[in-house]
Amino acid sequence: MAAARGGFSSRLGFILAAAGSAVGLGNIWGFPTQTASNGGAAFVLVYLILAFSLAYPAFMAELLIGRYGQANAVTSLQKMSRKAWQKKFAFVVGFGGIICAALILSFYGIIAGWMMSYAVEPIARMFSLQQTADWLITQSNVRNLLFTTLFMFLTVFIIRKGVEDGIEKWSKRLMPLLIGLLIILIVYVMTLDGASEGLQAYLNPDLERVFHPDLLVSALGQAFFSLSLGTSVMVIYGSYISKKENLITLGAQVTLIDVSIAFLAGLLIIPAMYVAQHQGVAIFAADGSLIAGPSMVFTVLPALFNDMGFMGLFVAFAFFVLMSVAALTSSISMLEGPVSYAVERHNIQREKATPLISVIIFCISAIIIFNLDFMLDFVAMLATEYGQPIIAMLCCVFVGWIWHRTEILEEIKQGNEQVEHTLFWKIWPWYCKFVCPVAIATVFIHSL
Ligand code: PHE
Repeated sequence: MAAARGGFSSRLGFILAAAGSAVGLGNIWGFPTQTASNGGAAFVLVYLILAFSLAYPAFMAELLIGRYGQANAVTSLQKMSRKAWQKKFAFVVGFGGIICAALILSFYGIIAGWMMSYAVEPIARMFSLQQTADWLITQSNVRNLLFTTLFMFLTVFIIRKGVEDGIEKWSKRLMPLLIGLLIILIVYVMTLDGASEGLQAYLNPDLERVFHPDLLVSALGQAFFSLSLGTSVMVIYGSYISKKENLITLGAQVTLIDVSIAFLAGLLIIPAMYVAQHQGVAIFAADGSLIAGPSMVFTVLPALFNDMGFMGLFVAFAFFVLMSVAALTSSISMLEGPVSYAVERHNIQREKATPLISVIIFCISAIIIFNLDFMLDFVAMLATEYGQPIIAMLCCVFVGWIWHRTEILEEIKQGNEQVEHTLFWKIWPWYCKFVCPVAIATVFIHSL
């Protein structure tokens, strides 16, 4: 059964694919931005605590659901259900996650398209194609449509090939590239004037802010987005892992990689902002906070690269390739959720389901592109601030309240005979039943 539907061929393949999903624009852009606007290391501290105490347990719930069900999110959740109402509820939660993944991809693809156009821009300049270069970095519907299409093509190209020859093979190529580029860029930025000031701003906690509720809400949202929770993605990736693997360790390793790369991204972006200030670029907004959001990535950093002369062309290229690669390893996971559903529930061939679903998602992207000013934020908010926490919370409720305890424990034990002596075994089922849903709901309600 498992062989027929495909799966990861190795442990490393899974780790890189799941880390690829987790590590994306959320880490390299979102995390440093949030850190910069939330009191530096105070945010990092709270983020670390929440990532391991809440996001990791919820992440384990999704992985276990998938590995138990050996199927897409809806089928997996339905396998755990006994009563008719539970099966209906399973459909709502599973399908909700799939819709959430599709919505995220619809706006993520646009932003990834910008990253790609900004990566091409230095090449155009190198060949003195100034007009093309200007066009590449100016907002226009044509550019947005073109680069979103291009990005979707790459995503479809990988997903069409399936799990082992698509997701796994490309994650193994792209993740080392991503980590290599990130490290080279950090080392380079550290040699520039102003970097140490940025390092201080990043690593000096403003401890008064640690208990600020807004900071908690932002950190939890960031941790859930970063681990791709509430989107059916980790359920489907979990379903592709062999029963022989120790899921608890694998999940912890992926969380660790995700958190570490976010931390490293902070070491690149925040010092780079201060280097830019050294070069005379304004990095603070009118209210005294560090410029964040799109202006940081598309205005401040390019201004810095411009000041670096010829070298800046290479740095700009490397930086935006890094962003694009990070986005690609995430977008493939977002497409896999709906594709696996179409393949397994509606018997559509993968080669057909992949382009079909991506065209539907692209249509949503096109609507967003034509109404960029309000729709981009709206769809992002809908999917990440409402969809993800609600679905992730319902997954925990499912595991805690609907799945039978003996079955949960049996699934945890697969590939991990020693687990009975661990803390995870003793507290996780209880934790997932009570603590996770209540904590997620509390933070969610506060954010409203
Ligand atoms: N985790 C990805 C990031 O940090 C985004 C993502 C969200 C990927 C949801 C898949 C599903 O950018």
